Amino acid sequence: MSLLDFDAPPDNYAVMGNPIAHSKSPQIHTLFAEQSGERLHYQAILVDLGGLENAVGNFFGNQGKGLNITVPFKEDAFRHATELSERARRAQAVNTLKFNSDGSIYGDNTDGIGLVRDLIQNHQIELKNKKILILGAGGAVKGILEPILKTGPAFVVIANRTVTKAERLALAFEDLGKIRGCGYEMLSEMGEFDLIINGTAASLKGELPPVPESAVVSNTICYDLMYAAKPTSFMVWCSQHGAVQCIDGLGMLVEQAAESFHLWRGIHPETRRVIEMLRAALAG
Ligand code: ATR
Repeated sequence: MSLLDFDAPPDNYAVMGNPIAHSKSPQIHTLFAEQSGERLHYQAILVDLGGLENAVGNFFGNQGKGLNITVPFKEDAFRHATELSERARRAQAVNTLKFNSDGSIYGDNTDGIGLVRDLIQNHQIELKNKKILILGAGGAVKGILEPILKTGPAFVVIANRTVTKAERLALAFEDLGKIRGCGYEMLSEMGEFDLIINGTAASLKGELPPVPESAVVSNTICYDLMYAAKPTSFMVWCSQHGAVQCIDGLGMLVEQAAESFHLWRGIHPETRRVIEMLRAALAG
């Protein structure tokens, strides 16, 4: 910005979802903007079911620059984008939209890279040549598979209650690395894993995916894509069964936001302080 446009209005960004009141994205992006000196305004917008296309059109029609898209609209946003990143195309879901000056709408999915950054950079966990088990085969898992496979794990196993969903997902990603889909009962024949990622919705209901004890040994790391003030039931179960480290998805939340911020503003914000602040606020 030059001295002459010092009072130009800030650029507008928002997150759209339903529900949306709980979203931490406005707080995270406002902290990123303060830290980097970027002039922007970021709000949370509640969108009616079926109303994403209109809402996005209105937002960009009113000079909006970029959007985050959350549950339940990520698949709608995927269809609405006019250009897609490779990882969004693979995930068939978009959590970040950027409005370009030529009127095109670029769609990206930063969830998976957010998870990989949290694991590798924030927790110094190497994924290359590791045996990785992913629980669940829904939208959350689709969003993380491409970036996980690109780190070069020894193999990835997707386990799901509905086995066909896991098998189909493995098939769709098999060109990116060694991956297979199965039911939970098959896991007892597979021995231990280095990393187990819980991408099911079980933690939301305080439930536990039926992972056999044999999957967890003393060097197993467990990661729940969910987060809460207290460790999730999956994290508690993993610690009780001897996992060396149990991590929740708060870091991933901040890292996926940082990647969106980079797409919009060309700057990678510093995330450590922001994660610490959110963690302190969660603890109350
Ligand atoms: P999301 O977009 O959050 O991934 P989703 O697409 O509805 O939501 O997927 C939810 C995932 O959690 C599914 O893999 C689901 O398993 P099924 O496909 O067999 O339904 C899984 N899931 C939900 N509750 C679970 C539980 N209590 N135990 C194990 N898996 C569970």
